[in-house]
Amino acid sequence: MTGAGQRLFIQEVGTRDGFQIEARFIPTADKIALIDTLSLCGLAKIEVTSFTSPKAIPALADADEVMRSLRRQPGVVYTALVPNLRGAERAIAAGTDELNLVMSASETHNLLNLRMTREQSLARLLEVVDLAQGAGVALNVSLSTSFGCPMEGVVPEDVVLGLAGRFLAAGVGGITLCDTTGMAHPGQVASLCRAFRTRFPGAGATLHLHNTRGMGLANALAGLGAGIDRFDASLGGLGGCPYAPGATGNICTEDLVHMLQAMGLALDVDLAGLLMAARTLPGMVGHEVPGQVLRAGRSLDLHPVPASLEEIRARALAQTQA
Ligand code: COA
Ligand code: ZN
Repeated sequence: MTGAGQRLFIQEVGTRDGFQIEARFIPTADKIALIDTLSLCGLAKIEVTSFTSPKAIPALADADEVMRSLRRQPGVVYTALVPNLRGAERAIAAGTDELNLVMSASETHNLLNLRMTREQSLARLLEVVDLAQGAGVALNVSLSTSFGCPMEGVVPEDVVLGLAGRFLAAGVGGITLCDTTGMAHPGQVASLCRAFRTRFPGAGATLHLHNTRGMGLANALAGLGAGIDRFDASLGGLGGCPYAPGATGNICTEDLVHMLQAMGLALDVDLAGLLMAARTLPGMVGHEVPGQVLRAGRSLDLHPVPASLEEIRARALAQTQA
């Protein structure tokens, strides 16, 4: 278990995982304004966008401008998803702090999402590793479908750990274990995270969870118990992969932060600021968002006592006296 005083790192992915699946194109200026607000909320990392083919992900066709125009805050790492060399060159030219390379643990999802076999992705991404290392840019690798593929089912732990090992051996700083379509359950999360920690004790590890089947926060706690201290989450609970059938939103950033802070864990994240930002989302995306604290309020946002309380108390006391 991560120690009680040890800082946990919350990484916002809403402007990438969230916006990539929205039908409405979010204007570039709105994306930048949202990122600038999130930059002031104490998040460790913000996944700003993805440098993918604009034909594949039209919602993020403005990646270069967004990355160049945001107001950087010290202490925040600005990362972006990168599928190939072309994306890496664009990301580096735009001043991205970290490249988050992406491939899938399952062959079928990799082919659908990236139009390459896993071996082709691996080979191309290892070229990207060389490029980034030459440019002095940090690297992380996100392994999609690490906890299950919607077409293939459960992905064996050894496949995930094998891919992670290839990237870590090449000098990548961190690996993100992604539950792309919310197939994981807490026992499985604990098992893979523990196996990862045992095999790669020095490597950075992030959990990227989707709440597709309502297990998202339970899975985050299972990861925490297995020594994970970095979590991706999406403001308002937006999110989903357009190339994965049945994909829905990530675990919701403000719900995750609310839970961890209620448990007394150290986060340094401004929940009120996140909630204010989340409140702007429905207007931006044109529909309600799944976040629950946004609707219900924080657990200690107390409701006013109804005026009828004194009358109810007097009647209750009269009954005991009678
Ligand atoms: N940025 C901009 N344009 C790119 C690009 C990139 N990173 N990679 C490829 N392209 C362009 C090429 O220039 C080419 O353009 P053209 O048709 O005008 O000549 C076109 O895209 C096709 O290039 P190709 O190398 O054949 O790629 P592809 O069509 O096989 O697509 C990917 C491969 C990986 C680039 C594409 O599938 C992709 O971007 N997928 C994103 C998946 C994703 O983000 N999923 C959700 C997150 S998990
Ligand atoms: Zn995702």
